[in-house]
Amino acid sequence: LIKTVYYYDVLDSTNNKARELPENSLVIAEEQIMGKGRLGRKWFSKKGGLYFSIALKPEMNLEDIPKLTLTSGVAVARALEEYQARLKWPNDVLINGKKVCGILSEIVGEIENFKVIVGIGINVENAVPDYATNLKNLNSEVNRAEILKDVIEQFTKYYKMLLSREWNKIRFEWLELSDTIGKFVEVKAGNRTYRGKAIDMDYDGGLIVETEEGTEKVFSGDCFYI
Ligand code: BTN
Repeated sequence: LIKTVYYYDVLDSTNNKARELPENSLVIAEEQIMGKGRLGRKWFSKKGGLYFSIALKPEMNLEDIPKLTLTSGVAVARALEEYQARLKWPNDVLINGKKVCGILSEIVGEIENFKVIVGIGINVENAVPDYATNLKNLNSEVNRAEILKDVIEQFTKYYKMLLSREWNKIRFEWLELSDTIGKFVEVKAGNRTYRGKAIDMDYDGGLIVETEEGTEKVFSGDCFYI
């Protein structure tokens, strides 16, 4: 899958760099000055973490791109299987209930001819706040090159599955790895807030929440456990 690897000491954001590059490029930086998180947040990107982005041109409909992000989460969780990594909807990877990885997908270009940048940040031996964790806490022998290799290997496998119309298989793996299903959640999506029990991740990638008003489906947003 990966044709060219671009490696930098410092970048503003690997996602921004990947926008300028051809499909199937992998961009890695030791450090990011303006690491981007979801929903306009900043992603702290000090040395010691893994920060990388993959530029892709998937033969998929635009509305199916959330599935690609969910698929990337499955790939990371599989690569971090020895740590019992779990998935929090939509695409955080948790270990022992704490965030170890975030994924930010961005669509660039025109609707008929778009590229997707999948950006992945993994806390490896960088310092992290209390609500997060890093791999070094769990394994002192952690090796960033090896983790990157494992993630790319898993990503390649699952990306190919997705393109071969095996989304439902991936979806079941997501459900198996899910930390969210069965929990009570509050999801803020646009100006609406949904509160209730997360009962499923639907075929279209939406989270199904059983609220007091009835069953609702949420497509993106900020998800908290309550
Ligand atoms: C999130 O959980 O909010 C998503 C975080 C995504 C961070 C990664 S680090 C590599 C890539 N470059 C960025 O600027 N962001 C992503």
